[in-house]
Amino acid sequence: MKTETDNRVVGIIGGTGLTSLAELEVVGRQAAATPYGVPSSALTRGSLQGQSVVFLSRHGNPHRIPPHEVNYRANIKALYDAGVRTVVGVNAVGGIHPDMEPACVVIPDQIIDYTWGRSGTFFEGDLENVTHIDFTWPYDQAARDILIQAATAHDVAFSGFGVYGATQGPRLETAAEVRRLEQDGCDLVGMTGMPEAALAAELGMRYVCLGLVVNRAAGKSDQVVSMEEIEAAIEKGMSGVHRILEASVAK
Ligand code: HPA
Repeated sequence: MKTETDNRVVGIIGGTGLTSLAELEVVGRQAAATPYGVPSSALTRGSLQGQSVVFLSRHGNPHRIPPHEVNYRANIKALYDAGVRTVVGVNAVGGIHPDMEPACVVIPDQIIDYTWGRSGTFFEGDLENVTHIDFTWPYDQAARDILIQAATAHDVAFSGFGVYGATQGPRLETAAEVRRLEQDGCDLVGMTGMPEAALAAELGMRYVCLGLVVNRAAGKSDQVVSMEEIEAAIEKGMSGVHRILEASVAK
């Protein structure tokens, strides 16, 4: 992922179903530490299509840290300290919008934060100034365009818009909660989109979300949400995520 002004390191944060990136030519692994604690996993440095990439597994490797217990500040700060200035957050999500079927990719353009109790800012404690970052457009538009072009070129079924409703978890929603999310304008729902996006913005990093729909959100199909459905959608859709990642970072 290289915008005209940026040829620095790209960070990829893998979510459920993406605990490692097999296509990365690994050059090293680094156990990072930050003033906020340790990130969810060691940082894996490598090269993907000639682009310098740092990969981090959001839930640890193996997958063991639930969404509400992820140390988002340590993850973002560790990537920043590793030279990352553009972050692709890969997230498993539930589809609310009728087009967002399991195994479809979503590149959202907006987010609503329903999470609570998470450490969601670097601006606290003994501050010299009170800082309010602009967050009108939470996702970097140039990076979104690159992902959308890659999805189009590689024939991956995707939606190039969408409002991400970030819920607390770890339980899934009730059908009524999903109806409320829909009335609020949410098209997809997930548990890990925030505060990750805001923390990246606080450090001045470009951030983009690459969502993989792994189930219809609660009440949006005639079935309850099952782990089997989620696993099948990951199996079917993750190859599209890999194709988009490789094509977007290619130099
Ligand atoms: N809700 C919240 N988070 C999710 C879902 C969902 O339906 N699917 C995957 N992550």
